[in-house]
Amino acid sequence: MPSSDSSSAPLAGEFDFVVVSNRLPVDRITDENGEPSFRTSPGGLVTALEPVMREADGAWIGWTGSADDHAEPFEHDGIHLLPVALSDTDIELYYEGFSNDTLWPLYHDVIAPPAYHREWWERYVIVNQRFADRAAEATAEGGTVWVQDYQLQLVPKMLREKRPDLTIGFFNHIPFPAYGIYSQLPWRTQIIQGLLGADVIGFQRTADAGNFSRAVRRLLGYQAKGTVIDVPVEAESDVASAKHRISSVGRAGGDKLVRTVVAKAFPISIDAARYEELARRPDIQARAKEIRDGLGNPKVVMLGVDRLDYTKGIGHRLKAFGELLADKTIEVEDVTLVQVASPSRERVQTYQTLRDEIELTVGRINGDYSTISHTAISYLHHGYPREEMVALYLAADIMLVTALRDGMNLVAKEYVASRFDNDGVLVLSEFAGASDELRTALRVNPHDIEGLKEAMLQATAMTKAERSRRMRAMRKRVQENDVARWSSSFLAALATPSDDLALPKANLRMQTRSEARQDERTEAREIEETQ
Ligand code: G6P
Repeated sequence: MPSSDSSSAPLAGEFDFVVVSNRLPVDRITDENGEPSFRTSPGGLVTALEPVMREADGAWIGWTGSADDHAEPFEHDGIHLLPVALSDTDIELYYEGFSNDTLWPLYHDVIAPPAYHREWWERYVIVNQRFADRAAEATAEGGTVWVQDYQLQLVPKMLREKRPDLTIGFFNHIPFPAYGIYSQLPWRTQIIQGLLGADVIGFQRTADAGNFSRAVRRLLGYQAKGTVIDVPVEAESDVASAKHRISSVGRAGGDKLVRTVVAKAFPISIDAARYEELARRPDIQARAKEIRDGLGNPKVVMLGVDRLDYTKGIGHRLKAFGELLADKTIEVEDVTLVQVASPSRERVQTYQTLRDEIELTVGRINGDYSTISHTAISYLHHGYPREEMVALYLAADIMLVTALRDGMNLVAKEYVASRFDNDGVLVLSEFAGASDELRTALRVNPHDIEGLKEAMLQATAMTKAERSRRMRAMRKRVQENDVARWSSSFLAALATPSDDLALPKANLRMQTRSEARQDERTEAREIEETQ
């Protein structure tokens, strides 16, 4: 049952551990009496951080999701929530504009063209400052703040300026692009400087961390070797209060103090045990059977589950499926595709255009190939509770994850975690972060429609023994590296004085030259690849 009790939050400045994200981990709902209240959102982040929150008397800062919501701090399911209000203009310029129409397409390899507007940027700065101020007033002396995602990249620096006593972490949930793409951003230097306010900057993949370090070297000329970046210290307060992270580095022209920042990969995950627990529930298994019955019991059920976003490659997946039907390689009586496309960012034009395109394609394929008793594509423009998702995972013989670029893709991990029967085939894009870990998935390049069709056919024809071998290996990985492990390893890195991670300083000058050569090689390769 959703619960929402108000007012027992301690006064500002008392929290030893504070998470800052654009959205609070709750959704506003209206209960059966018409009373507004909150429900914990289904995301994994809150599950991961809940134990840390309780132990450290933590608080979460974020937006409730409604315009001009000036809600007071409140407690929900044992977590202190500190709302930040966003006006209509903030939503339009900071959230829909700069976050989701500039940074989102840019960081996803310009699949859609990013728009650059100075007005959007100015509002991004204003709103980031508001989040930073809230964190500065809420966090206790010497406390830890963990900032989440691309909407808040300026917060680490803004917060450090106000509160140099704090330990600050940042985690980027989406990819960080190669320098050739990142360098388009008119405010590229400010963003990098904003992030470098953190002590530890986490990324999904090693490649993302590498792209970030290269951008730092290119734009600011700082030493960035391995996972450690040396940031020259300017403010006296930095020296006084963050001693454990400052080391003296000898350089030509005199000694210079640097603050060491760690930038490395911490691949995010899910609460795997919780998914398995749900999948083992008899009512959810009964629901899975009901879903298959409802589809007319086809031999094969394929499934796609995505936010309706142009990064997810939904169109490529539909094209491949439509061609298989057109070629008569598969028959509509035998194979059904269920596509869940949950509504997302609906006021942004690119998302409206995408929705039109996808729904036109679905309509055409269904019009051409469905029969009275068998629908080719069951298209669902809804979000569903976790129980229903797990039933869908159990009902699906083949899970299609064909993202063109994706930080991680937790749906792939959820499917694997739910398949305690060691059955089911995961077709997984090599451009999703999850493909670094889920090596025994059928990996595809979604741009290669022929390759995608072949993988879909290979999945339908795969023997039970091979399905089981591949699924077991993936399950082991997801069970071991669950979301609790993700958060504890990030927080452990944050608690480790970064000198322990630093490299021998004697080699610094030589390493700098070899890094420069390495950067040149990487760029030459990137240029070749784009030609
Ligand atoms: C991605 C981002 C999150 C974001 C989520 C939903 O997963 O990394 O930061 O919250 O999409 O998008 P929305 O714009 O609805 O918050």
